[in-house]
Amino acid sequence: MTPLFLFLFLLLPLSFAFRISPLSRPLFALQSTISRSSDSDQKIRTLQKHSEIINSFPTVVESAVNEVLLETGEKSWQPVDLLPYPPPEGFEEQMEGISDELLIVLIGDMITEEALPTYQTLLNTFVGCEDTNGSTQTPWAKWSRGWTSEENRHGDLLNRFLYLNSDRVDMRSVECTVQHLMTSGFNPGAEQDPYKGFIYTSFQERATKISHGNVGKLASKAGAETLARICAYIAGDEARHEKAYQSFCTEILDRDPSGFITSMGEVMRAGISMPAEQMYDGVNLNLYSDFSNVAQDIGVYTAFDYSEIARHLVKIWELETLEGLEGGAEEEREFLCKLPERYRKLAERSAKKKEKHQTNVSHTDAKVLRQQFKWIK
Ligand SMILES: [Fe+2]
Ligand SMILES: [Fe+2]
Repeated sequence: MTPLFLFLFLLLPLSFAFRISPLSRPLFALQSTISRSSDSDQKIRTLQKHSEIINSFPTVVESAVNEVLLETGEKSWQPVDLLPYPPPEGFEEQMEGISDELLIVLIGDMITEEALPTYQTLLNTFVGCEDTNGSTQTPWAKWSRGWTSEENRHGDLLNRFLYLNSDRVDMRSVECTVQHLMTSGFNPGAEQDPYKGFIYTSFQERATKISHGNVGKLASKAGAETLARICAYIAGDEARHEKAYQSFCTEILDRDPSGFITSMGEVMRAGISMPAEQMYDGVNLNLYSDFSNVAQDIGVYTAFDYSEIARHLVKIWELETLEGLEGGAEEEREFLCKLPERYRKLAERSAKKKEKHQTNVSHTDAKVLRQQFKWIK
């Protein structure tokens, strides 16, 4: 999203500053080989410690499985409950108020959800919480499968909704994009570290809650009650997931505050990359950036949301008053506490810039939208 581009832009001068002259390369290469091996020893030790920490609160994970995740099967909601066949009376008319922009964002959200196998694979890369044989009975493996079973409903439901609106949606193009996204995979930079993984998911679940919630509000305003209800149910799931991941982080923070803050500093410095960044429909190489712009334009997910999420995490983990940090963690804590305001200012600056450079060709131009998004008819 926009904030990520801003961070990459801010980081550019730094990468130039660290360029070395050709003469200094051989010595630098030797030093980096030595430091690489001690770096990897250090990384293994850190991962080992993080694995031990996340396995020191099994009852918390177990209760997340039993109390945060909903009942499975009969007692749980299923996509068909919200979208029965035949669809409810007046279903087609409800779509009349849905703009192309909102439809595009909904399609992008659905594609993101449909790439679920990628996210379960990712969860299994975090050291200490792997599902080693596919049906492991550890609390972490049970959480991973239970979470996946809930997420699976989101893509199914949205896909079905869009399929029923095939008069406006080019489902083949959408399905191609899903397949491309899954084939490309996704690397948020967690590097097998469960701390980084759960910090990332704490952020990301809140982001998806906001996004689905806002699509639902816009749908409701447009009179599309079925879609509004669908989005509310999905956002409700994301809200529970968000709480669980954040509570796992609270446990880590209690046991290893310096390690947690160091990981969080690394995650936030790298920026939170969005799971659908590699989306591609086989035609538009800027598909993700075009999609993000539309989402931002209609207020579904904006740079201000990014800043709000950072603020929320600083608040719930009480980083402002956290004491007793070791090494460079105190410095990282200060950095993290200043981030939400920095993000907000960046968001404000970018919103003003956008306002100033608003051209006649906007995303509301139906012709432009159809050139960018083969998803819509
Ligand atoms: Fe989801
Ligand atoms: Fe979720």
